[in-house]
Amino acid sequence: MKTYSIALIPGDGIGKDVTAAAWQVLEKVSARSGFELKATTFPWSCAYYRETGAMMPADGIATLRRFDAILLGAVGWPAEVPDSVSLHGLLLPIRKAFVQYANIRPHRLLPGVEGPLKARNFDILCIRENTEGEYSGAGGRVHQGTKDEVAVETSIFTRAGVERILRFGFEQARARRGKLASVTKSNAQKYSMVFWDEITERLAAEYPDVTVTSYHIDAMAARMVMAPESLDVVVASNLFGDILTDLGAAIQGGLGFAASANINPDRSAPSMFEPVHGSAPDIAHLAIANPIAAIWSAAMMIEHLGEAAAAEQIMAAIAAATSAGIGTVPGKDKTETITAAVLAALD
Ligand code: IPM
Ligand code: MN
Repeated sequence: MKTYSIALIPGDGIGKDVTAAAWQVLEKVSARSGFELKATTFPWSCAYYRETGAMMPADGIATLRRFDAILLGAVGWPAEVPDSVSLHGLLLPIRKAFVQYANIRPHRLLPGVEGPLKARNFDILCIRENTEGEYSGAGGRVHQGTKDEVAVETSIFTRAGVERILRFGFEQARARRGKLASVTKSNAQKYSMVFWDEITERLAAEYPDVTVTSYHIDAMAARMVMAPESLDVVVASNLFGDILTDLGAAIQGGLGFAASANINPDRSAPSMFEPVHGSAPDIAHLAIANPIAAIWSAAMMIEHLGEAAAAEQIMAAIAAATSAGIGTVPGKDKTETITAAVLAALD
């Protein structure tokens, strides 16, 4: 029997509830699809930081490297650990160390979910550059705490980094409806974004079957609200993709439905799957977190591992639950109720 080893990092807050739900679904679907998933759970989180002084052990990355994939819940508990510490101690180093340069986020309405827009028939795949750009982490502060203080944070765009994410976008568009939207702000940012546009234009010649259009980020934000059906694959830098995918989550009914995959396309290291939402400290004690985003992310994980049929079964079970009105309205159903509905639909 095929066995996949999965590193489970539930993390903080509702991350723990939603990964537990996703794992139940994975166990059920794998048992009857003829493959096995073996979980090793890591307690790395803000609570772990309080105990040990680090978000993960010094050899955390080396430990994770042996796994086939990572399923993560949420990282962050700002009341106890500043986000700038917790995220830079766990989530962001994993994305970078494992060269998970493509962050894939699907935005479409599940059946039965009422989004905020009139438009219903959109199916957008956002691809966010995940290792460099505006979130490279290059910068510093001088004259700290004085009135002369200066803070510098430099965006880094490399030819290799831009080219590989754009290629990934072209390939995804080719496998879908053949349309790629490349997002920049080259009318205002004349170095990095013009560079991105030039590479887009050059690569377009290699993909004559893909129609590529360049948009500015501000216009794209409006388009995702006014004409989301006009979009297929959207590729953007780290910051722009971050913002657009929260907008994408909003138009699909909320963060409870927004799934994501941090992919290492070369498979030289494990990829990581996580809901777009965070730890939600405000509702973490209420047991009402929607597990659908995490379950959908889990489906993306097994699809990446080569179990596409089982992934489709999970998506069908999610759709069955939401079609019956379960999990469609934020806060209405308990996490447990939604999970039970997805599990029941798998029968
Ligand atoms: C996301 C999150 C993270 C990001 C934060 C928590 C660092 O917002 O996955 O979209 O921006 O990458
Ligand atoms: Mn974000």
